[in-house]
Amino acid sequence: MLRWLVDSPRNPGWPAELGPVRVAAGVVTIRPIRIRDAAEWSRLRIKNQNDLLPWEPTGRGTWASRHQPSSWGPMFSVLKAEAKRGAVLPFVIEVDGRYAGQLTIGNVQRGAVCSAWIGYWVDADVTGGGVASAAVALGVDHAFGTVGLHRLDATVQPDNHASQAVLAKVGFRQEGLLKRYMDVNARWRDHLLFAMTVDEVVGSAVDTLIRSGRAFAM
Ligand code: ACO
Repeated sequence: MLRWLVDSPRNPGWPAELGPVRVAAGVVTIRPIRIRDAAEWSRLRIKNQNDLLPWEPTGRGTWASRHQPSSWGPMFSVLKAEAKRGAVLPFVIEVDGRYAGQLTIGNVQRGAVCSAWIGYWVDADVTGGGVASAAVALGVDHAFGTVGLHRLDATVQPDNHASQAVLAKVGFRQEGLLKRYMDVNARWRDHLLFAMTVDEVVGSAVDTLIRSGRAFAM
């Protein structure tokens, strides 16, 4: 565990603690996932099933069986290995120091593309208070800063208006429609492609939220 916490040269910017940023819901910080997140991860994923299921990739078995605390360990190990080799940055979103969701930067590609995707979910108890926007802004600044990426993609179903609002607030542009892009909730679903490149950020993504009065510097 401790060896993993030593900065990995194959994944610059990992592990990292990001924030704090103050929004209406509280103080948002970002930290790496931990093996001891099992119980809270399971509790929140099961509690939020109805809000998460329509937007997440189809999985094997029931939602409850996939989200038992015992499912976290194997998933954590895969994510940790992927983080070590520089392919993913898997974070927990905290609000006032409490586990409130996850933010993941995945499929990190280097070389001529130098890009990744970003994805997120937030506990319904704290939605509508700027948490996801703050988390995504912190993720964007980290990805374009220490991680050294050039472009971030985000794919969203056309009827996921809350997620599209999050991306728009942080500065993502809509680029097009990906037909039957992802197997979500047991069907191949169209997704809108949103993206942002490093040159489009004015100051920082967190600054963008602060300038629009949606977040407050600390
Ligand atoms: N129509 C239009 N806008 C809406 C709707 C709606 N039905 N519902 C909420 N919104 C707006 C809110 O008003 C707010 O915008 P505002 O600040 O301009 O008022 C915005 O959506 C939400 O912004 P935040 O408060 O920063 O986001 P929140 O912390 O509420 O989290 C999230 C939003 C992540 C979409 C949360 O609802 C969630 O976890 N949903 C389920 C999982 C999910 O959809 N994840 C994203 C998948 S796509 C991806 O990862 C790229």
